[in-house]
Amino acid sequence: MRDVRSRFHIRTFGCQMNQHDAQKMANLLHHDGWSAAVDPDTADLVVIHTCSVREKAEHKLYTELGRLLQRKQVEPSLLVGVGGCVAQQEGEALLRRFPALDFVFGPQNLVHLPELAREARARVRGLRVDYRDDPQARFELPELHPEFHPTSPGRAFVTVMEGCDLFCAYCVVPRTRGREVSRSSDQILAEVRGLASRGVSEVTLLGQTVNAYGRARPGMAKGEISFAELLRRVAEVPGIRRIRFTSPHPSFVSDDLIEAYRDVPQLCPHLHLPVQSGSNRVLAAMNRRYDRATYVDTIARLRAARPGVAITSDLIVGFPTETREDFAETLSLMREVRFTDSFSFKYSQRPGTPAERRRLGELDPAEAQARLVEVQTLQTELTLEAHGARVGERVDVLVDGHSRHGGDLTGRDPQNRLVTFRAESDIAQGAYAVVDVRGYTPHSLLGREAPSSR
Ligand code: SAH
Ligand code: SF4
Ligand code: F3S
Repeated sequence: MRDVRSRFHIRTFGCQMNQHDAQKMANLLHHDGWSAAVDPDTADLVVIHTCSVREKAEHKLYTELGRLLQRKQVEPSLLVGVGGCVAQQEGEALLRRFPALDFVFGPQNLVHLPELAREARARVRGLRVDYRDDPQARFELPELHPEFHPTSPGRAFVTVMEGCDLFCAYCVVPRTRGREVSRSSDQILAEVRGLASRGVSEVTLLGQTVNAYGRARPGMAKGEISFAELLRRVAEVPGIRRIRFTSPHPSFVSDDLIEAYRDVPQLCPHLHLPVQSGSNRVLAAMNRRYDRATYVDTIARLRAARPGVAITSDLIVGFPTETREDFAETLSLMREVRFTDSFSFKYSQRPGTPAERRRLGELDPAEAQARLVEVQTLQTELTLEAHGARVGERVDVLVDGHSRHGGDLTGRDPQNRLVTFRAESDIAQGAYAVVDVRGYTPHSLLGREAPSSR
């Protein structure tokens, strides 16, 4: 029988929470009678799910939207919506600027997507960017249909909190995601149990400051537990073998959390802990609420609790007023901590952020670019060193696909390193392989399936 459902396509930019929100959006549309189109050109509705963390991310919206609205000129029945953080930030301005755009909705209004799509069909333009009166309401969405979950077989995201109250000087997220709200632990655990019963063994807990989970905040469900306690309870769910989380903030790495690294084996030996800068002066100007010594001490305590834990980070270069000396401190911190990997970014001025309001002068773009290259060159050196130290280890790999070259398989080890390996015969995605690490590149560990490990 011909599929008579209308088809949607969601184009997603941004962080893992955006990716997960896109799964929830797809699920809502599915419940409302839509089906997913892999190819956007065959879709009746295209939703661009945006990120505004850096100017470059925001630009992707305008490129994509321009293309779609051109298509709409020859195909007037095409519906186009914009969601995500740029939608929240720009709101009605987007509808004014693009008269052919059908609707705009922010991250806290996902639930309205089916209704917006229906209105759009009736030629009613829609805007949903108000923060919800009930901050918990955003978590009350229908359970994901298996088609939209998990991210890859065996793995899934679970939102545990949303929003941010920290207002780092450069960051737009508190404006786009709103105030910090934790989800009830009963709801989280029910979701994890459901996932485990469908074969998910690795969960990644998501939140903008995920380890602030459960701290006393308005809108938080009563009688709640700490983040470390939440990890312990997730670990008790039968079938859950690996727990990850992102992104934590250094200020909330409690003793309790460090203890969890010591005695919760399901908690993966990896911590992505964004530091942003190695200079105390810049950290203060960024309003990061910790200093270099505290960060270094946190890492040392963590390494004592869980030897071999991989530490990765985010770094910003060229924050306004960053001097050559400040920058040298970032390089020296990278060497001191020996990050296994890092994401590094040139400072990008964002609308409405404290740094923008203070009109701090931006650095010369060529100098910022040179600093970025220096950070990335050093990181490659540190990553190669970290990978080299792994040769000879035997690791568990959660298989997620085939490598582009040859018949090798790919997957992730507990430290979240990409592993490319040769196996005797195919292994299903979502299954685990035991792999002997024999080599490495800056991007992955290379290995071979351990003899008779199956
Ligand atoms: N909630 C996360 C941050 C999410 S944004 C956290 O606090 O760690 C991811 C990363 O983007 C940040 O860690 C930071 O390194 C970078 N970033 C955020 N705003 C930026 C800006 N205005 N310019 C450049 N990089 C930025
Ligand atoms: Fe942005 Fe800072 Fe909040 Fe992270 S902690 S989301 S960088 S304001
Ligand atoms: Fe981007 Fe919003 Fe995530 S700004 S990084 S999509 S929270």
